[in-house]
Amino acid sequence: MQILIAEDDQIARMLLQNTLKKRGYEVLCAENGRQAWELANTYTVNLLISDLDMPEMDGFDLCRKIRASSRDDYIYIIMLTALDDKSNLLRVFDSGADDYIPKPFDPEELEARIHTGVRVIALERGHKDLQRVIGSSRDKLRVILDSMNEEIVSVDRNLSIASVNKAFIRRQEVCFQDVIGQTITNMDSVFDDPSSRVQMVENIKSVFKTGEEKSENAVSGDAENERQYKELTFLPVKDSQNEVSQVVIVSRDVTEQRRKTMEIYDLNRNLRDALNQVNIKKQELEEAMAQLKLTQAQALQTEKMASIGQLAAGVAHEINNPTGFVSSNLNTLDEYQEDIDSLLKAYRELLTGLNKDVAKENLSSRIPAKIDRILDLEQEIDIEFVQEDIRDLIKDCREGTDRIKKIVLNLKSFAHPGEDKLVTRDISQGLESTLNMVNNELKYKATVTMDLGDLPEIQCYPQQLNQVFMNILVNAAQAIETHGEIKIMAEHVNGNVEIRISDTGSGISEENIPRIFDPFFTTKDVGKGTGLGMNIAYNIIKKHNGTIDVESTVGKGTTFTIKLPAGRIDDLKSGASNRT
Ligand SMILES: Nc1ncnc2c1ncn2[C@@H]1O[C@H](COP(=O)(O)OP(=O)(O)OP(=O)(O)O)[C@@H](O)[C@H]1O
Ligand SMILES: [Mg+2]
Repeated sequence: MQILIAEDDQIARMLLQNTLKKRGYEVLCAENGRQAWELANTYTVNLLISDLDMPEMDGFDLCRKIRASSRDDYIYIIMLTALDDKSNLLRVFDSGADDYIPKPFDPEELEARIHTGVRVIALERGHKDLQRVIGSSRDKLRVILDSMNEEIVSVDRNLSIASVNKAFIRRQEVCFQDVIGQTITNMDSVFDDPSSRVQMVENIKSVFKTGEEKSENAVSGDAENERQYKELTFLPVKDSQNEVSQVVIVSRDVTEQRRKTMEIYDLNRNLRDALNQVNIKKQELEEAMAQLKLTQAQALQTEKMASIGQLAAGVAHEINNPTGFVSSNLNTLDEYQEDIDSLLKAYRELLTGLNKDVAKENLSSRIPAKIDRILDLEQEIDIEFVQEDIRDLIKDCREGTDRIKKIVLNLKSFAHPGEDKLVTRDISQGLESTLNMVNNELKYKATVTMDLGDLPEIQCYPQQLNQVFMNILVNAAQAIETHGEIKIMAEHVNGNVEIRISDTGSGISEENIPRIFDPFFTTKDVGKGTGLGMNIAYNIIKKHNGTIDVESTVGKGTTFTIKLPAGRIDDLKSGASNRT
């Protein structure tokens, strides 16, 4: 705290100086007003105690000069007045002094007045800081308001414009100085038509009256493409008494925003139309798909019919072939029959002749001729060949009818796979009887070995299992070109009866292995195979809750492994599904 003393009286100056120093103040001394003015401008002075009457510059002038000068800190000024000099007091305060103290001064009183001064200085300093803060806030606010795109204008109760921002100046194409103090209703640029002027005045007055914010939308411009849309907000500015002192009008140009909203609205409508189109297309597509499915189903049906036709053709061919040679054999046999009849007739005639001759004891005459006739006839019909051929023909016929029987049996199984009865049986019997049945077909092609372990009885449809064994064995024989081996093995393993039938035939190519159980899959020439044998086998084994697997190497041979569960299989159903 630095105190400047301005006193021309040396003793009075010294007294003051000592008193203040003793109380811990820093003190500067001047002999007259001019010197004090210079010191006040050179040093930071917080408080000035000045005499009134001084040479060169008196206390009043010093005081006025200090007050007129701009300085960072406030100087608290106490004037020294004569005790009886009350008349000067008014001048003291007029010149800008804060207080006075009569001379000769009382140190206690001086101290008290200095304390008051200190408080005022602190208050002044706080006030100044506050003003600085307010000033900088105002500046910031101005920057913000000026940077805004919205036009902002504030008016007082008389509708005079108090302030505007840069956006307002720019859009209204006016000058700041010309605008401030103008009545807003006189500004033509702000209003397009009288009705908007009336409306705005009403809004401003309403905000002054109610203290409530208001807003409204305004449109200007006639032609659609020149039209401007604005959103106006009227905000109250209240003073310390909570009275509305100004109304701030914020005008936001929403033309672009509205245009975008309209665009979005249009886009939405287009999108909706497009979606409708897509839905119509989707529906058309779904109908087309349904039609396609129907066509496909029909095509499949046609294909099925074709397969059945193919099967029928195959079966017809299969049956035709043996039927052909059986019928041709029967023709030959018919001819043989006629030959044999005529031979027998000749024998009978010979016999009758012989009988008559014996009766007449006339053994002479016609016998040799008849014997010659028989011998000729025997030679003619080659009776030895006929006898042998008859045997062959009958054998062929039997084979033919067997084949027909097998084909019919296969077809029957295919059409009615479950007519057999569920019984408990040792499948060894079935394997043996089947082998006997097909042995004719196998014996020329392969050496057949059978190795059957101790097998438990299982629940099964025995006839159907026989059919499985037969189909596998016949395939095995057909796969062997000249001569090979067929092994039949069966054992009881892990609760299953496991049957393995292997051959040393041609084997099955890798790509065909997954197809051999498909119905009508055959690699055999048309008429030689229906492609049903393995499919029937697969379905029968599946019906027994068993499995059938194949392992094969081209050129080496094939092994079929069948596993049938050994326990009771009460849930075996005659109607189990087929692999189709
Ligand atoms: N042991 C085997 N060795 C080689 N190929 C086989 C064997 N078993 C089956 N195949 C192949 O599987 C195909 C299908 O056999 P599947 O028994 O179902 O019909 P197929 O013998 O052709 O006619 P069929 O209905 O007269 O039995 C056969 O054409 C053959 O290509
Ligand atoms: Mg077959």
